[in-house]
Amino acid sequence: MPMTMLAPDCLRAAQERVLPQLTRYLQEAPMAARRLLSAMSYANLEGGKRLRAALVYAAAKTFGAPLAHADAAAVAVEFVHAYSLIHDDLPAMDDSPLRRGIASCHIAYDEATAILAGDALQALAFEVLANDEQLLVVTRLKLVQRLAKASGLQGMAGGQMIDLIYTGSVEKPSLAELQQMHRLKTGALLEASILMGCDCAGLSAALIRKSISEYSKALGLAYQIQDDILDVVSVAGNLGKPQGRDAELNKMTYPAVVGLDKAYEMREELYQHGIKALESIELDTAQLQELLCFVVRRDN
Ligand code: IPE
Ligand code: IPE
Ligand code: MG
Ligand code: MG
Ligand code: MG
Repeated sequence: MPMTMLAPDCLRAAQERVLPQLTRYLQEAPMAARRLLSAMSYANLEGGKRLRAALVYAAAKTFGAPLAHADAAAVAVEFVHAYSLIHDDLPAMDDSPLRRGIASCHIAYDEATAILAGDALQALAFEVLANDEQLLVVTRLKLVQRLAKASGLQGMAGGQMIDLIYTGSVEKPSLAELQQMHRLKTGALLEASILMGCDCAGLSAALIRKSISEYSKALGLAYQIQDDILDVVSVAGNLGKPQGRDAELNKMTYPAVVGLDKAYEMREELYQHGIKALESIELDTAQLQELLCFVVRRDN
């Protein structure tokens, strides 16, 4: 999968930094479970933009944490994200054979192994957070709480359920329902990535937290809107996953519900809103700005 030319330096730096960190936690397995470790590694170490890791690092840096204090959070969000992709591609969900430019995990291995790889990655994410001795126990607990909420019923899994209920249904969701689905299935984990970076830096100022929360929400929703747009308009082969799959499955996407032009417009409004939220923070927010710009301009 070609890496987009539009990637900012901080995204490239995060890709380089997080890969050895991910690898570090994917080393040992009981003999008979080597296949499981192999599937977990396969789904994590090949490709991926590492946007969630980059957001953790950018927020940590903005608010003064050493990057080493953000490694566990970066790894944990990437593990949960990879697990969500493995399960998203399963025949029972989006039934997609290609991910990050290679065969989806259930095709390269088998469905049962892919399910277990997702399960084990989710557990590993929380283990990584709980065990990081560089962080205060209270910080670890905060990170665990944030990631748990963003992954479960009130986050990614809840959003995926809404997505599946509407898939192929004759009933279209209202704009509010569509927005909630996107905020949960994708936005929640992106938002958590940013807030976890803030937690690593011990950010407590309420006003800054409010601005960061606005920025994060805008970025999270804009990301999935762009994902929906790219499924319609991207150049063939550029996505590293099948194109046009949303229409084939009759998915409730922004282009499907409000039309492509309106989807662009809404994406742009979110971009402006997110940048404006950052303006009230009197620190160097350049990396956070660049990542938001990437989110709405990216081509894969
Ligand atoms: C794809 O996420 C699934 C969504 C939540 C939209 P990414 O586009 O961030 O996937 P990778 O990690 O770069 O492969
Ligand atoms: C995925 O949304 C959201 C997840 C929680 C993984 P999509 O189903 O649109 O993601 P892609 O397009 O397959 O990457
Ligand atoms: Mg899906
Ligand atoms: Mg999908
Ligand atoms: Mg998609």
